[in-house]
Amino acid sequence: MSKGSKILLTGSRGMLGWDLAKALKGSGYELLEFDRQHLDITDRTRVFSTVLEHKPSVVINAAAYTNVDLAESERDQALAINAMAPGYLAEACSEIVATFVHFSTDQVFDGSGETPWEEEDKPNPSNYYAYTKWLGEQTALKYSASLILRVQWLYGEHKERFTALKNKEVFTPFADQWGAPTWTKHVAESVLRLLEKRASGLFHFAYDDWATWYDVFQFVCQKLGYRTQLVPKKIADVHLPASRPRFCVLSNRKLASTLGMSGMGRWKVALGEFLSKL
Ligand SMILES: NC(=O)c1ccc[n+]([C@@H]2O[C@H](COP(=O)([O-])OP(=O)(O)OC[C@H]3O[C@@H](n4cnc5c(N)ncnc54)[C@H](OP(=O)(O)O)[C@@H]3O)[C@@H](O)[C@H]2O)c1
Repeated sequence: MSKGSKILLTGSRGMLGWDLAKALKGSGYELLEFDRQHLDITDRTRVFSTVLEHKPSVVINAAAYTNVDLAESERDQALAINAMAPGYLAEACSEIVATFVHFSTDQVFDGSGETPWEEEDKPNPSNYYAYTKWLGEQTALKYSASLILRVQWLYGEHKERFTALKNKEVFTPFADQWGAPTWTKHVAESVLRLLEKRASGLFHFAYDDWATWYDVFQFVCQKLGYRTQLVPKKIADVHLPASRPRFCVLSNRKLASTLGMSGMGRWKVALGEFLSKL
């Protein structure tokens, strides 16, 4: 993709959409931003007319239904946004020979095992949100110009999830759910690099190491000087509407080798830098 190329971004007001817009604006591309109000991705007719009118080289879909627990009861909405709409966008892209970039989740895996999940491992989603995300992946991947990044535990400046801890006396993070907090800025940078390499297909974004949510919040409290008492809890201790997978660490082997990098860095370095800017 050459500088000056036109990129259409949906879901531009979401956590990841925000950092994608920021990265794209600073990289010499012509950015067309659409939030939900200006483009509802479940409106097939509007999706086609918008894509065909602007004829971008790339469409990046950062829009999604992301409430994991609510998705258990709002099934039709989750399905329409996460499974069907990516198909409309990918199909519209194929008509103008544009690349379609889309995001999915670590939760497509069932959380068993002890080693990082590779792109070719078989998904087995354990909640409805993850099931709709998996369907969306499959729909998009029917089109050869689709690029999909599975990500996990996102944080970013637009929806920062750590400083609320300051006012809590006690907090109970999961100590048996494994993954890594992931800065949306780093996901956005990887998308740009993959586009520059004209990559397509399925990729995992992950750092080189991982932790539990308990480890993450311990790090946050230490970095920000919070006195919140952290009490570890187990997935089995709570009864949430959607089940949570235990071990969804993603392997970054394919991403790093495609980008010609020896690794993707450490989650503590990324989070430490993010927290230092708050
Ligand atoms: N957050 C995580 O930890 C996480 C983990 C794994 C994967 N992911 C994936 O990463 C991607 C980005 O997630 P995120 O955390 O940035 O999500 P987010 O902050 O919830 O943003 C999603 C955006 O999509 C918009 N949206 C919802 N329905 C729409 C529709 N029908 N048409 C157009 N826009 C619509 C939302 O607008 P409104 O706010 O107005 O509804 C919101 O701005 C998603 O594909 C998600 O599944 C996220």
